[in-house]
Order: sequence, then C-alpha cells, then structure tokens
Amino acid sequence: MAHFTDRVCIITGGASGIGAETARRFVADGGRVIIGDIDDDQGEALAAEIGDSAIYTHGDVCNPAACAAMVALAVSRFGRLDGLVNSAIRMGPTALVDLSPDDWRKVVDVGLTGTFLMTQAAGRWWIEQSKPGAVVNLSSTGGLQPYNLAGAYSTTKAGVIMLSKQFGLEWARNNIRVNTVCPGHTETPLTAYMRDPAVKQARADVTPLGRVGQPEDIADGILYLLSDAASYVTSSELVIDGGMSTSLFNHMPGRKWD
Ligand SMILES: NC(=O)c1ccc[n+]([C@@H]2O[C@H](COP(=O)([O-])OP(=O)(O)OC[C@H]3O[C@@H](n4cnc5c(N)ncnc54)[C@H](O)[C@@H]3O)[C@@H](O)[C@H]2O)c1
Repeated sequence: MAHFTDRVCIITGGASGIGAETARRFVADGGRVIIGDIDDDQGEALAAEIGDSAIYTHGDVCNPAACAAMVALAVSRFGRLDGLVNSAIRMGPTALVDLSPDDWRKVVDVGLTGTFLMTQAAGRWWIEQSKPGAVVNLSSTGGLQPYNLAGAYSTTKAGVIMLSKQFGLEWARNNIRVNTVCPGHTETPLTAYMRDPAVKQARADVTPLGRVGQPEDIADGILYLLSDAASYVTSSELVIDGGMSTSLFNHMPGRKWD
C-alpha cells in the first residue's frame, strides 16, 4: 500500500544526492513533491525524470521570501502541504583557524539558518490552517561529534539537531512533528572523494556493516519519519551510518574486532 497517496512534500536541496532520492521515492510511494534548490539545471532535469508529480522551483533557503514562496507553490499547484525535508547544504572544508567569516557564514546560513527559515515557513502555514505536518531535517554524524577540517559544518549540524528538537517541542500540540536524520558517509555528489574505489573500499572496511551508505539508505529513514508509521515520533534523531559512530573501540590498536 502506498504511504503517501495525494500527500505533498517540499524537499530543499532536492536536486541532488539524498534529497533527490527522497523525491523519487516519495513520488513512487504515491506523493507529489516540490523540489527546491539553487541548481536549476539539475532540479529541472530531476523534475522531468520524475514526471507530473514533481515541480522544480528555484528556492534559496537563505531567503525567507523564497521559503514562503515554496510553501505557496505547494498549496497553489498541489492544494496542500504535508511534509518538509531540509536537505540543502554547503560545505566549508577548512580548519577553523583559517576559515574566513564569509565562509563560516555560507555554511551556517544554508545549513542552520536555512533550515530554520524553511521550517518556520512550513510551520506557519500548518498552524494557520490547523493542519498536521512532518518535518525531517538533515543533520549528520558530524553533528554528533567533531569533524576535523569541517568545524563550521559540524557546528551547523549540531545546531540542526537542537533546532529540530526545539521546533518539535513547540509544535507538538499542533501535531507537527519535527525530527532529524543523521547520516554517516553516503555516496553523493557531496562526497565525490568516494568515487575513488580505493577510498570507498577503505571506508567500507572501517564501517561495521561493511559498506558506505547510499542515498536510498538515508531516504528510507526520511520516509519513515515523514510517514504515519512515525506518528508518535517527534524531537528525535535517527542515526543511519552502518554503525560507524558507535565503533570507536573497533579502532583501538591491539584489539581484534573483525
Ligand atoms: N553525503 C553524505 O555523506 C552526508 C553525510 C551526512 C549528512 N549529509 C547531509 O545530507 C544532506 C544532503 O546531502 P547530499 O550528500 O545529498 O548533498 P548534495 O551536495 O548532493 O546536495 C545538496 C543540495 O543542496 C543544494 N543547495 C545548496 N545551497 C542551497 C540553498 N541556499 N538553497 C537551496 N538548496 C541549496 C545544492 O545545490 C545541492 O543540490 C545535507 O544536509 C548533508 O549535510 C550528507
């Protein structure tokens, strides 16, 4: 049975990687999607691939008016809004000591402020309309522990976890659920270094489940949290990382662990 028949979801950063796979699967499961991104070529191509149940729109999550416009588009074109996935990100891979204020702001603006603005825009509509809603925000295992040479990213992703808990608590009595997914390393355009087979194999070797993550693995968790199967889940986070973030002791010299 389709879980999302007639339901409508906005997916920011939806033109690529995890967001794109979530869009494909949400529609395959009966729903309709608004794909919001700033990569127009990729967004248009994805919407064309998915068909009539997907609309691409240029939507910069750093702009409050653009966030409100994505909500208005969902309502005008599809008549309703049921879910939101915040997947947009920019990286700033530099040691904090060398990171410029501008590069810091770019990461925080898209990853944290953008998640705030988009969630607020959707929540305002749900509250006004007295409708239930479900939000899934993309954090990272890098939001649970420091990530060397990606300090703006890990700080942003830690903020996303707290922001989601905060929204979830504020909106619980409105039946608007807000949860976080924390992926581990997942093969997408963001992690282009995994195209090197040696890097991918080395990463698979240190992952307890023996492989790196795929966008489908993360989309499965996102779809669960969007669905009615998660109707009693809010202000919570789901780690999807093949066991990586709990495997510290596997890496202690002198221990046999495989
Ligand atoms: N891939 C991984 O290994 C991994 C691991 C942990 C967490 N995550 C998180 O999952 C999410 C998706 O990652 P991905 O690997 O699919 O990345 P991706 O780079 O494939 O996709 C990110 C998308 O965000 C879009 N974007 C950038 N700035 C934007 C803006 N201002 N407004 C709207 N869209 C914007 C980009 O154009 C791109 O299409 C991110 O939040 C990322 O931090 C990914």
